Order: sequence, then C-alpha cells, then structure tokens
Amino acid sequence: MLLGNAVKKILVTGGAGFIGSHVVDMLMDDGYEVVVYDNLSNGRREFIEQHIGTPNFIFHEADLMDVDTLRAAMTGCDLVWHLAANTDIIGGAEQPRRDLRDCVMGTFNVLEAMRALDIKSIIFSSTGAVYGELCHDVATSEAAGPLLPVSTYAAGKIGSEAFISAFCALYGLRGWMFRFGNVIGARMTHGVIFDFINRLRDNPAELLIRGDGRQEKNYFLVEECIDGMAYAFRNIPRDEETPCDILNLGTDSITPVTKIAAIVCEEMNLPNTKIVIEGTKRAWLGDQPRVHITVDRIRQLGWQAKRHSDEAVRTAVRRMLGKA
Ligand SMILES: NC(=O)c1ccc[n+]([C@@H]2O[C@H](COP(=O)([O-])OP(=O)(O)OC[C@H]3O[C@@H](n4cnc5c(N)ncnc54)[C@H](O)[C@@H]3O)[C@@H](O)[C@H]2O)c1
Repeated sequence: MLLGNAVKKILVTGGAGFIGSHVVDMLMDDGYEVVVYDNLSNGRREFIEQHIGTPNFIFHEADLMDVDTLRAAMTGCDLVWHLAANTDIIGGAEQPRRDLRDCVMGTFNVLEAMRALDIKSIIFSSTGAVYGELCHDVATSEAAGPLLPVSTYAAGKIGSEAFISAFCALYGLRGWMFRFGNVIGARMTHGVIFDFINRLRDNPAELLIRGDGRQEKNYFLVEECIDGMAYAFRNIPRDEETPCDILNLGTDSITPVTKIAAIVCEEMNLPNTKIVIEGTKRAWLGDQPRVHITVDRIRQLGWQAKRHSDEAVRTAVRRMLGKA
C-alpha cells in the first residue's frame, strides 16, 4: 500500500496534471478513496478519464480560489497531497500574479480548509528551483541558504513552504515537503523533453537548444518521485518536535542538455538532425540553467532513485513517443 493503512481518503490537488495523474493511478491501484481537485488550467481530463465513474473516485473541476468548493471536496479526507501550482515558469515571469495566486494563495486556502476540517497531514511538492543561483555549480543540500529565488515560480514555492511550516507549528498539522529535481515520464505537458520532441516533429532537420548549451540538471522518473514521497510519509513520522520537514528528492546524477538532445534524436531515428546552440546566457527569464541538488538526506533515511538520470531521460523519451 502506497501510503500504508493509516489513511483511507486522499485529496489530490492538481490530480489531473502530469505528476498528479500518476499519483491518482497509484492510489487507485491500491484501492484508496481518491478525490481529485483540479481546475484543468494545465491538467487534462483524459489523464484521469479511466477513473471517472469508479465508486472510490471523485473529480472536482474547480479552482483553489473557490474556498467553499475546496472545503466541501476535502471533507472526510485524511490526507492532502498538494500538487496544484502554476507550472508555466515563463508564463509566471510574464504574469507574476499567477504564482502568487495559484501557488501561495492556493496553498494558503488548502491549509485553511485543512484547519477548519481538522485534517492533519499534507504532502507538498516544492522544487529545487528554490535554491536559485546557489545550485548553479555546487550540489545544494536542504540546509543551504539564504534562499534567493530567481523566478516567481520559486518565490511561490518558498512562500508555500513557509505557510505550511507555520500552520504545522501553530495548528498541529503535519507536513512532508519535497524539493524535486526534474520529474519526467509519460503525459508531460512541459519541460525540455516535451519541447524537443515537439520541435523535432515540426522540423526534423534542425533542433535549437536555447541558452548556452551548458545546462545540466538531474532527471528522475515520475513513479520514483511518487515512491520517494510515499516512502517518506510511511517511514518518517512527524511529531510535535518536528511537525514538518523538507527533503530534496531526485538523483545526484545529472544529464547535460546536449545529451538529452542526442537521446531524443536517437529515439526519433533522426541521425542527421543539426543541433544548433542559441548562445544566450539563459534560455528564458527566470530559467535556472544548471541545477545540482544533494539527495544524501533521503538516502540516509533509506530511499534512493533506482535509475541514473540519463537512463530516466531515455525511458521518458520512449514513453512520450509511445515506444514504452
Ligand atoms: N514536473 C517537474 O519536474 C516538477 C519539478 C518540481 C516541482 N514540481 C511540482 O510538482 C507539482 C506537479 O507538477 P506537474 O509537473 O505535474 O505540473 P502540472 O502543471 O501538470 O500539474 C499541476 C496541476 O495543477 C492544476 N492547477 C494549477 N492551478 C490550479 C488552481 N488554482 N486550482 C486548481 N488546480 C490548479 C493544473 O491544472 C495542473 O493539472 C507542481 O506543484 C510543481 O510545481 C514539478
């Protein structure tokens, strides 16, 4: 059982998104009662379609700003798996209020509903992006600081972490927070692999790598990400002393962007594609070209991702191409 026997009914915010829909599949496989709360701003009904009509599954197409609907949807749940956020980092830079609204206010509304309904446990998806420039060249642990974000997306996540911590200290909630590396797999709707595949479908002759071509990040598969969160929930109890904590989650292996381009071209059978590097310092406003995180803490607690970052990339590419 993914989350053990202590919980029965789980609200998954962002449950129609990339990671959320995989969370839902795994919870449904184990027979939990699952409530999905998603406004479909980036999620897709087709990702959860297979569960609609199943007695232990409810879908609320609704926004986190709709506090009455949120509270009604959460009633009777014992855990909130909070994944909803604006994940369009470029869009956030253009309209910074989106990250304030969908991330900070969204998280605050989730916490207020939990407080009102006396629901104690929350699992939260934060990001390695909170480390800003700190993780450019040096692998960064959870203790690193000061946290000076370079995107409104990361600022929104730090704000959410802060509210979760405060609610845990003040109102007896228990929080499991995770700063992810890059999560990849089937059903991606954004990210470098998604972009490369789509650009090559448009123009197989040439692939433009934005930025300076020196980008490198750690990539891990969505089922491993979910397994890591669930492992921590089952095995790292929270109590009054430590009502919440934050763990980096990912791999400490990394894949350069040029390698991703090569893997995508190989898997799409495009040996003659010309790879062109744009040559600018950053690919876009708010981009973090190089992200290095340490995963020593969760490893010491007994969990690690099984695959090297390169292997995860190839598997995800194959899944996106319908080959695996
Ligand atoms: N994919 C990654 O590599 C990665 C890395 C770090 C952190 N994360 C975090 O993991 C979570 C899930 O990411 P994902 O990649 O599945 O993204 P996603 O965009 O596929 O999922 C987010 C979901 O939240 C929903 N949503 C957004 N705003 C909402 C609102 N106001 N009310 C209700 N629903 C709303 C969207 O419709 C979408 O389905 C996010 O919090 C993201 O920041 C993801």
